[in-house]
Amino acid sequence: MKIEEVFQAYKDYIMPTYTKVPLIFVKGKGSRLWDIHNKLYLDFFPGWGVGNLGHCHPKVMQAVRDQISKLVFIPNNYYHLPQAKLAKEIVYWTYPAKVFFCNSGAEANEGAIKFSRKFGQGRYEIITFENSFHGRTLATVAATGQKKYQEGFAPLPEGFKTVKFNDIEAVKAAITDKTVAILLELIQGEGGVNVATKDFVSGLKKICDEKKLLLIVDEVQTGIGRTGKLFCHQHYGITPDIVTMAKALGGGLPIGVMLVKKEIADTLGPGMHASTFGGGPVICKAALAVLNAIQKEKLLSNAVKMGEYLFAKLNALKTKYPVIKEVRGLGLMVGVELAVEGKPVVEKCLQKYLLINCTHDKVLRLMPALNITKKEVDKAIKILDEALRGL
Ligand SMILES: Cc1ncc(COP(=O)(O)O)c(C=O)c1O
Repeated sequence: MKIEEVFQAYKDYIMPTYTKVPLIFVKGKGSRLWDIHNKLYLDFFPGWGVGNLGHCHPKVMQAVRDQISKLVFIPNNYYHLPQAKLAKEIVYWTYPAKVFFCNSGAEANEGAIKFSRKFGQGRYEIITFENSFHGRTLATVAATGQKKYQEGFAPLPEGFKTVKFNDIEAVKAAITDKTVAILLELIQGEGGVNVATKDFVSGLKKICDEKKLLLIVDEVQTGIGRTGKLFCHQHYGITPDIVTMAKALGGGLPIGVMLVKKEIADTLGPGMHASTFGGGPVICKAALAVLNAIQKEKLLSNAVKMGEYLFAKLNALKTKYPVIKEVRGLGLMVGVELAVEGKPVVEKCLQKYLLINCTHDKVLRLMPALNITKKEVDKAIKILDEALRGL
């Protein structure tokens, strides 16, 4: 296919649901990406949160190759080793729990919503937060606290109450005798990299314990080492009732997981919930390789170290450019809030072969791979510095 034919095929045959950058990528390794013209890009937003190990991590690729040559798929009415091993591994790194496997973040959250309703036995309301993002299925769009994702899709499923983030009084005021759960991102990714305060989170936990509500933490973006711990809730010293995860767990392959505290996990019994592809052998092997690489390659401590380095460099840029209002985040989940629209900065970086993201109009989002090097951070900062000049 010629380059123009690729663009034309997208135009003719693929629904236009994504705002697209006219780049065709053909190869990736770590934080490097090559386009069809063999131009090399430095990727500081690999896979929209999928690439915590960078592109094509060799251990993950090997695990996938090994499994594909043996058994690609087996349905969930049978047993297989990779799923058993992965479930055990996830629980080992979290707390006594059971998992449900599916294919995406939205599906994991959808599972958590269904679980809550079953658990609630009549209580069904879920409290969510302004500027949250939980996915694109109807229920997860209803849970998402941003109107722009909901417009045009009414009627949405009922039972979600959206309140102000980091405001414990607003949560208390929203609770009724129908409330069953609170659904929360500890750092709102799509909503502008907004970090939940420790007081707010411990307040939520206390309320949940007192009122017998489920605390559901959406770690689809914050999980798998992104913030310097394997899961972000581990920074807060809490044990959520449910944790949802997806994105980076599969090392580039699709996976979703709903993790539920052991004592309540059997609320969903045979036939109550399912996902045909959930937890297939290939993806489970890939996820096991991801978790293994994070430990063996000490990627959590690298994320902490490189996160501190990146924050220091960005704060130095903040001193230099008053257009930067705030640098925030945790580990390698970083938001740079500007006083102006971020899109031109993203475009300028792209012209200099650096890939970053802008969310919530004015927040530049940097989420490099956990194995990013100091040299790569320096390179990205140099490009960002040039892009911010003259704003
Ligand atoms: C916090 C959070 N939850 C859920 C989702 C939805 O995940 P998916 O796109 O895999 O359905 C996302 C995606 O960006 C997310 O950031």
